[in-house]
Amino acid sequence: MKLNAFERAAMNNPVRAAHQHHREASWFRRLAGGDLSGQQVLEVGCGRGVGAEVILDRLGAASVTVFDLDESMVELARRRLHGRRVELSVGDVCDIAQPTASTDTVVDFGIIHHVPNWQQAVAEIARVLRPGGLLLFEEVPRQMLDTWAFRTFTLHPRENRFEAAEFATELARHGLHGTGEFEHHLGGMVFIGAARKA
Ligand SMILES: C[S@@+](CC[C@H](N)C(=O)[O-])C[C@H]1O[C@@H](n2cnc3c(N)ncnc32)[C@H](O)[C@@H]1O
Repeated sequence: MKLNAFERAAMNNPVRAAHQHHREASWFRRLAGGDLSGQQVLEVGCGRGVGAEVILDRLGAASVTVFDLDESMVELARRRLHGRRVELSVGDVCDIAQPTASTDTVVDFGIIHHVPNWQQAVAEIARVLRPGGLLLFEEVPRQMLDTWAFRTFTLHPRENRFEAAEFATELARHGLHGTGEFEHHLGGMVFIGAARKA
């Protein structure tokens, strides 16, 4: 599901970019147990491309492949990432255009809660990860999506949302095992974690 104008403004601004570059980068670096040097990384739902910058500049990946459902977001990312080691396309996390077991690390900066059939998104991420590969995620739980502010100002699927424990169960069903406890940040607005493919 694409963003409405309000959430687009909340995502695409310098404050959010700075937060991704500093705080979220350090969360993911810690959860990954270091940087991602030498790795081929896939970012699902890249938005305007700040996540790809973080993956290259803060996490040290060798190259990044990114996609987003919204072609206008991919166009913003294309402009932002011009000249960088990034492959961009329009695509759907429920049908990822990558071979099975082809990816070292998948990064999800808050997109799976936008996907009506989020279980299919998890299945696809598990499919493209190689054995031993890592998923780093930041997600928004059902309890937050059910608040007045989220319901009034943002556009998300209403049914079939998840809490952190349900997300962990779905990951495990696809052979993605959490590397530790999930953490809740930003006053419970997001949970973050890492899971490794068996
Ligand atoms: C909350 S935004 C996050 C964007 C970016 N990751 C960031 O952190 O700035 C969610 C993004 O997921 C994208 N998206 C939603 N459903 C998707 C799907 N099925 N496949 C790929 N991208 C999707 C939206 O277009 C949007 O860019």
